[in-house]
Amino acid sequence: MDTSVWLIPLDDLEPDACAIQLGAVACLELAPGQDDFVGDPLRMALAGLAEQARRPYVIEAGGQAVGVLTLQSGAARLAGWTDDDSAWLLRGFLIDRRQQGKGLGSLAAAAAVEAAAKLSVRRGTPEAGVVLSVNERNPAGLAAYHRAGFVDYGAYLGGSSGPQRTMFRRFLPVNSRKGIA
Ligand SMILES: CC(C)(COP(=O)(O)OP(=O)(O)OC[C@H]1O[C@@H](n2cnc3c(N)ncnc32)[C@H](O)[C@@H]1OP(=O)(O)O)[C@@H](O)C(=O)NCCC(=O)NCCS
Repeated sequence: MDTSVWLIPLDDLEPDACAIQLGAVACLELAPGQDDFVGDPLRMALAGLAEQARRPYVIEAGGQAVGVLTLQSGAARLAGWTDDDSAWLLRGFLIDRRQQGKGLGSLAAAAAVEAAAKLSVRRGTPEAGVVLSVNERNPAGLAAYHRAGFVDYGAYLGGSSGPQRTMFRRFLPVNSRKGIA
């Protein structure tokens, strides 16, 4: 498989194209035990489409849907950040179990930061980067975010599935973001 990933913003699609993507999202699968770390992909995509502050994306690689993620504005404290508005929240992030371990999660997390930076420029909003929380029992998540340039900002004890780490990646300065804005 080609190792590029593309983020398809569901709320920019025509209804027919969106329905096709949602059909593919419904076929995504987690490995046993991974539902401790993330919700049902279709439900998250639909919740993303229903809420204005959320931007749900399908992660595509090699011409097929391999995962989902959502960027949300005004909600960074849900990941243990100090305020809601200075970072995008990355949530609902998963790669289909059959596609895991190929580097796609790391690439998609980095692509999410680029997409968020573009959104902030386009909207003129104050986010300086992307924040998320990841369970301490989730080595694949921790490693994927680390590889994508996220930095550990410490423990976060919110949420219902045990201790988390708050991880943040700052946007590149505007003048070094060639091709992003
Ligand atoms: C977390 C997740 C998105 C990572 O996606 P992925 O495509 O498998 O990640 P990558 O292939 O890019 O691997 C990233 C790193 O994780 C490591 N990794 C992958 N699976 C692992 C595992 N089961 N245990 C330990 N490390 C693992 C890889 O070796 C790689 O490390 P490296 O950069 O040091 O080589 C994917 O495992 C997933 O969807 N998990 C279930 C949902 C979830 O946990 N989402 C995150 C919620 S915060």
